[in-house]
Amino acid sequence: MAVIKCPECDYEVETDGIVTVCPKCNADMTKAMEDVGRTSRPKMSEVARDDSVTTHEFIVRTKGLVKEYVMGEVRVRALNGVDLDVRRGEYLSIMGPSGSGKSTLFNMVGGLDKPSEGTCYIEEVDMAQLDAFELAWLRCRKIGYIFQSFNLIPVMTALENVTLPMIFAGMSSDEMMERGAMLLDLVGLGDRLHHKPYELSGGQQQRVAVARSLANSPAIILADEPTGNLDLQTGKEIIDLLKELNTESGVTVISATHDLKMIDVSDRIVHIRDGVCDKIEHRADLDLNIGDLGSEHAEGE
Ligand SMILES: Nc1ncnc2c1ncn2[C@@H]1O[C@H](COP(=O)(O)OP(=O)(O)OP(=O)(O)O)[C@@H](O)[C@H]1O
Ligand SMILES: [Mg+2]
Repeated sequence: MAVIKCPECDYEVETDGIVTVCPKCNADMTKAMEDVGRTSRPKMSEVARDDSVTTHEFIVRTKGLVKEYVMGEVRVRALNGVDLDVRRGEYLSIMGPSGSGKSTLFNMVGGLDKPSEGTCYIEEVDMAQLDAFELAWLRCRKIGYIFQSFNLIPVMTALENVTLPMIFAGMSSDEMMERGAMLLDLVGLGDRLHHKPYELSGGQQQRVAVARSLANSPAIILADEPTGNLDLQTGKEIIDLLKELNTESGVTVISATHDLKMIDVSDRIVHIRDGVCDKIEHRADLDLNIGDLGSEHAEGE
């Protein structure tokens, strides 16, 4: 529990994030609540971390990944043998037309679904070999998820949404409150802790989702079209935020995207077509051609 002081009558009250009115004089205590998280604001470099004891070059590897969905008579091969190595600390974008298998790949790498064939390794551990508990631990502690549609819980405040994954990680409520408020402050929402998703703009909701993805200091952030529902400017702010996290904390970012602005910040771009890796471009090579790309796609923006 955190202790906050009433600004009117100096009454001190312990809170786990629910008290917003002074129990003694009814004064508004929202501001005091919000200040809780600001006292020890850490830097971007401290909110995500790669605390692995291993030194494997690749944090994620997939080998011959196949995913076949069967719906009655219809079989869809969403992935058709994907081999992909993702370096520790890399910013990787996965691009490809709608239906090419980006989200499917993302779900396999994130342990949200199982491949029909092939293997997905996280730090050289074959995910298929993990039992339900180990997989839940891995998802909770190693990976932060961001989705196109934000996926916030509508009845919960921003702070409650951000602290939810911390409950599963077994954090004390004091720590949760402090870290939750700090993370929201970090993404520029220090003054929106008690707003529910419907009281926030789309960009603000996605910021809450970014803060939530950082709840348990992940080594990997998986973002499935994080800017897909945002306007250009807001999308750019989210991309900048992810890039900053990537460079300052060394967190590996893997993002499925249609957004050409992602190219600017990516180390590599993996193009997927019909469930296979079509080509992989390196940032260094792209620098040479970026002018061409910009003009080629300018009309679609
Ligand atoms: N749960 C499912 N059941 C059956 N088919 C599915 C399922 N999920 C995806 N598919 C099919 O798998 C293929 C790949 O879908 P996926 O969602 O991975 O595409 P995507 O590249 O993420 O597309 P978008 O850019 O539109 O998000 C599509 O043909 C889709 O219809
Ligand atoms: Mg998708």
